[in-house]
Amino acid sequence: MEKIKDLLSFFGGKEKLKEFARQHETPAYIYAKSIVEHNFLAYQKHLSENQGRVCVAIKANSNPELLKILAAHGAGVDVVSWAEAQRALDCGVPGQKIVFSGVGKRRSELERAIDAGLAAINVESQAEFELIQNLCKEKQKRVRLSFRLNPNVDANTHPKISTGMFENKFGMDHLQVEDLYKRSHQDPWIQAVGIHFHLGSQIFTQDPYDQALDQAFTLIDQLRKQSMIVEFLNVGGGIGLREQSIEEHIHAIEMHMKKIVDESHGKNIKIFVEPGRSIFGNAGILLTQVLYRKQTSHKTFVIVDAGMNDYMRPALYEAPVHLEYLGESKNHETMDLVGPVCESTDTFAKNITFTVCMQGDILAMMHVGAYGYSMSSHYNLRSRPAEFLWDGAQYRCIQEEILA
Ligand SMILES: Cc1ncc(COP(=O)(O)O)c(C=O)c1O
Repeated sequence: MEKIKDLLSFFGGKEKLKEFARQHETPAYIYAKSIVEHNFLAYQKHLSENQGRVCVAIKANSNPELLKILAAHGAGVDVVSWAEAQRALDCGVPGQKIVFSGVGKRRSELERAIDAGLAAINVESQAEFELIQNLCKEKQKRVRLSFRLNPNVDANTHPKISTGMFENKFGMDHLQVEDLYKRSHQDPWIQAVGIHFHLGSQIFTQDPYDQALDQAFTLIDQLRKQSMIVEFLNVGGGIGLREQSIEEHIHAIEMHMKKIVDESHGKNIKIFVEPGRSIFGNAGILLTQVLYRKQTSHKTFVIVDAGMNDYMRPALYEAPVHLEYLGESKNHETMDLVGPVCESTDTFAKNITFTVCMQGDILAMMHVGAYGYSMSSHYNLRSRPAEFLWDGAQYRCIQEEILA
C-alpha cells in the first residue's frame, strides 16, 4: 500500500484532500495534471511524428480540460462515437490525428467522419466497409481506412475486457482483412492505409502483443507483396494498471513501447498506439465520505456516498478497488464497503480488512481516472459527480456536478 500512498502527494497530499472534502460535495473525482502528462509523454517519447502517433483512447476519460492538456502535447485520439470525435475536435485535436473505431458506427457518424478527413476510420466488418464505399461514392469523397484484425490471441485478462479473440465481436480474421484491403485497392474513393488490432484491457505481459505483432507483420508483408500500401500498424491499447508507484507504471509503458518499436524496426512502418487506462487510470481518484456504519448479526457494512453510478467498474467486471483512508482511526476490522444504490452489486469491496471507518470519514478510491467518470450514470436519478483538476497549486472544477 505504501506505493499507492505516495500517489496521494500528486493530488495535493492527505491534508489538502481532507480540507477539499470539508469544502466540497462528495463524491468528487480529482485528477492530477502532472500524472496525465507523465503517462502521455512516456508513450510519446518513443514515437516522433514520422515514427507514428499516440492516439489516446478517450472513452477512458473524455473530460474537455484533460483533452486540451493532451492536445497541447500533440496527442491524437482514438474515438468510438462521433460525439467523442466532435469533442476532440472542439478541444484542439485536428481531424488528421483522430482514428475512429467501433463495431457499430451509424451511417450519420460515418458521413461526418468522411467529411472530416480523419487519420483513419477503423473498419470492423464487411458490411461496414460496403456502407463506407457507398457513402464515399455518393459524396464523391475519398476516405482513409484501416482494418481491424482479430488475431485470436488470449490477452490473459478478465473475459469481459478481452477483445482480441474469435469469440469477441471485434475485428475480422486475417483472410477477411486481406480481402477488404484488396477491394479497397480497386475503389477510387478508398485509400487503405493501415492495419489495427486491440487485444483488450488490463494486460500485464508482452507475450500477447508479440503474438499479434507476428500475425500483423505477416499480413502486412502479404499485402505489400501485392503492391498494397500499408502506412501504419495500430497496436491498440491495453497496458494494465495495478498497485504500483508512478515510476513502476512509467517503466511498464517504456518497456512496452521499446518492445513494439524494436520489433517494428526496419519494417518501414509507422506505429500507432491507443492507450486509455494507462494514461488516465492512476491520474484520478474518487473522494467519498462514509455515510453510515451498519452492523448486522452477520457482518459490518460501511456505506459510502459514492455508488456504482459514480464508479461502475467493480460492479461491471469485479475491478478491485484500491482504497486510501484519510481519517484518524488506527484500528482495523473486516467489512464490506458498499454504496447507496439499490443493487447488491453496488459493492466496492467484500470482506476486506481495513481501517475502522467512522461516519463522516473520507476515503479516496485510487486508480479510477480511467473508465470512472466516463462510465458514470444517473441511475437511481443520482447526480453525476463533479470533476476537479489538481495542477500542483490548486483544485479547479473542470466539470460541475450534473443533477439528474
Ligand atoms: C479500439 C480500442 N483501442 C484502445 C482502447 C483502450 O484500451 P486501454 O484503456 O486498456 O488502454 C480500447 C478500449 O476498450 C479500444 O476498444
